[in-house]
Amino acid sequence: MQKSLNFSLIDQINRLKKRNNAIILAHNYQVGEVQNLADYVGDSLGLSQKAAKSDADIIVFCGVQFMAETASILCPDKMVLMPEITAGCPMANMISAERLRTLKNKHPKATVVCYVNTTAEIKAESNICCTSSNAVKVVESIKKSEIIFVPDQYLAHYVSTKTEKKIIPWIGFCPTHIKILPEHILKQKKLHPKAKVMVHPECTPPVIALADEVVSTGGMIRYAKESNTREIIVGTEVGILHRLRKENLTKKFYPASESAICPNMKKTTLEKILWSLEDLK
Ligand code: 13P
Ligand code: SF4
Repeated sequence: MQKSLNFSLIDQINRLKKRNNAIILAHNYQVGEVQNLADYVGDSLGLSQKAAKSDADIIVFCGVQFMAETASILCPDKMVLMPEITAGCPMANMISAERLRTLKNKHPKATVVCYVNTTAEIKAESNICCTSSNAVKVVESIKKSEIIFVPDQYLAHYVSTKTEKKIIPWIGFCPTHIKILPEHILKQKKLHPKAKVMVHPECTPPVIALADEVVSTGGMIRYAKESNTREIIVGTEVGILHRLRKENLTKKFYPASESAICPNMKKTTLEKILWSLEDLK
C-alpha cells in the first residue's frame, strides 16, 4: 500500500517537475526516498555547483535553509523552493552579523572566512566563503596571515592543524556532530578491527584524532567508492548511510553513533516536495 502510494506521489512530482522545468537537489543527509527521487544528491559544494550550472527555471532544494539561500545567491534569476521552510541549521544561527562586526573590529587585519553553513547576512560580512570540502584550500589561498573563521569552532580547529596561519575561531558547533564521541569510534573499532574510520571535520578534535580520513560528505562518498577498504566506520549524520550502502553493495558501513541525526535534515518528505511544486512555494 505504502509502496503504491509513493509511486503515485513520485509520478505526480515528476510530472510537475517536467512541466515547470524544475530540478530537485538533495543533500546527502536527506531521508532515503528523497535522495532516491532527486536529480542530484551531494555535499554543500557539489549542490552549490550544480545549482549554479543548472539551466532549470526552478530549483527544489531538499536540505536546510543556508543551502537553499546559497543556491538563491548563486542563481538570482531562478526560483528556489524549499519544501520545508523551517528546516534550519542550528550552527548557522549561532552567530549574528552584529557580533561578527564586533569580532572584526577587534581584529582589523584579519580576513573573514565563513563556512557555507551561515546566513546570507554573515556571508555579506565575510571576505570569502568555503565548504567543508575546500576549507583548507580556501584558507591557504588567502595572502594575510590572520583569519577569522566562522561559525564552526571544530572545522576552524581542523583547518588550524593544516595551516601556518593564525585562526581566530567563532565558538559555534554542530549539535549533531558533537554527539559523536571518541568512545563510539573506539567501540566500533573493537567490533570491526579491519574497518577504516572516516569522519566529518565538524566532529570534535578527539574524534578527528581517531580517524583515517577527515572528509566532507562528498569526500566520504568518493573514499567509499575508490578505496580498497571493505568496511568503514562512518562519523557523520546517519542519513549518508543510505547512499553509501546503495552505491557500494559489497562493502559494509557502520555508523559511529546511531544518535547522530540532524532533525532539520529529516523534515523534507515526498509529500512536501509535491506541495511545493504544486503551489510554487
Ligand atoms: P557537507 O558539505 O560535508 O555535506 O556538510 C554539510 C553539513 O551540514 C554537515 O553537517
Ligand atoms: Fe547544521 Fe549540523 Fe544539521 Fe549540518 S548536520 S545542517 S551543520 S545542524
